[in-house]
Amino acid sequence: MTVPLTARPDIAALVRSSADLIESLQDAGGAYPASPTFSAYSGYSWFRDGAFIADGMSSAGRAESAERFFDWCARTLESRGDEIAAIVAAARAGEPAPDAAMLPTRFTFDGLAGDDEWWDFQLDGYGTWVWALDEHVRRHGTDAAGWASAIALTVDYLTSSWRRPCFDWWEEHADHVHVSTLGCIAAGLRAAVRLGVLDAEREALAAAAAAEVEAVVRTRGTADGHLAKWLGSSAVDASLAAIVGVMDVVPAASDLGRATIATIERDLTVDGGVHRYLGDTYFGGGQWPLLSCLLGLAHARAGDHDRARELLDWAATTAGADGSMPEQVERRLLDPTRVDEWVERWGPSADPLLWTHAMFIRLAVELDGLESTRETAA
Ligand code: BGC
Repeated sequence: MTVPLTARPDIAALVRSSADLIESLQDAGGAYPASPTFSAYSGYSWFRDGAFIADGMSSAGRAESAERFFDWCARTLESRGDEIAAIVAAARAGEPAPDAAMLPTRFTFDGLAGDDEWWDFQLDGYGTWVWALDEHVRRHGTDAAGWASAIALTVDYLTSSWRRPCFDWWEEHADHVHVSTLGCIAAGLRAAVRLGVLDAEREALAAAAAAEVEAVVRTRGTADGHLAKWLGSSAVDASLAAIVGVMDVVPAASDLGRATIATIERDLTVDGGVHRYLGDTYFGGGQWPLLSCLLGLAHARAGDHDRARELLDWAATTAGADGSMPEQVERRLLDPTRVDEWVERWGPSADPLLWTHAMFIRLAVELDGLESTRETAA
């Protein structure tokens, strides 16, 4: 028996307050801060976090907020058009640019790289922003023409560089090619084609690369019938729930999709709380509510709405008294001896994390529709 959100005022209220919080913290120029208070993230916006935040806001009917973020992505990319051209030319000449010359993963709100050192070369966010834009365009019937040149730059960047190892979603393991990263790239390239704003040559390039990336995901990207953390790994990573679920690169109801969901449940999930991967030591390796929501989306797409709702409910329990939702909770740690070193370095872990709020919104809307964000829902 499932209980709709409208009969769950606590969930509906948290969805609304989450959307309000994100809107209130969005920079005037469109960037979404990852976390306003956490020392290591403050002042920066990630393409990865931001794209998922925009998707959550778009799904909640906050179209204008999502579009301001897409505009920010477009301005950020267009200001680097020469850099992207140089990266593409180097790749075509068989002399790929060094990692340090690739685009950063996070930017200051005015679209600059910032002065702080970071694990910067990550490709996933460049696919994810185009995927989120396409979701938005299809949901709201928006005209994508204004983003055409930024989409073209993204296609150039990704088609020239997708085979390269880079840092993963968790900004780790730079020596590997990560299956979630490939999934985000494939989703972005497919979306770029679907948006219908590319010239014929680029469109063909994007379609061919998307097919190639998907083929790698389905062959070298699997182990024991499920998607793997990186090419050659036998483990799962909870980020794979995104490419199985909400991004639909591997259909959730396919054998590969179901096996991936089942392995994330078996290896990484306790109650409704999901660890990033076995061996995670960041702040002791706690449970991430945004991953509970991504796993819930995958279950929902595979048809298991009851499990999806349990995961949503679990994520709701991580909200503080003021409604703030964290990056992770310490209820079950993979390695409790590794908390203090991070607290000493950066202070307590991020809370609020806007990405968590957004994934909570996204799953709630998936399960119960837009009603959940209306003022009158009760
Ligand atoms: C996570 C990233 C995230 C960043 C900002 C890092 O700790 O590993 O996935 O993009 O925080 O939220």
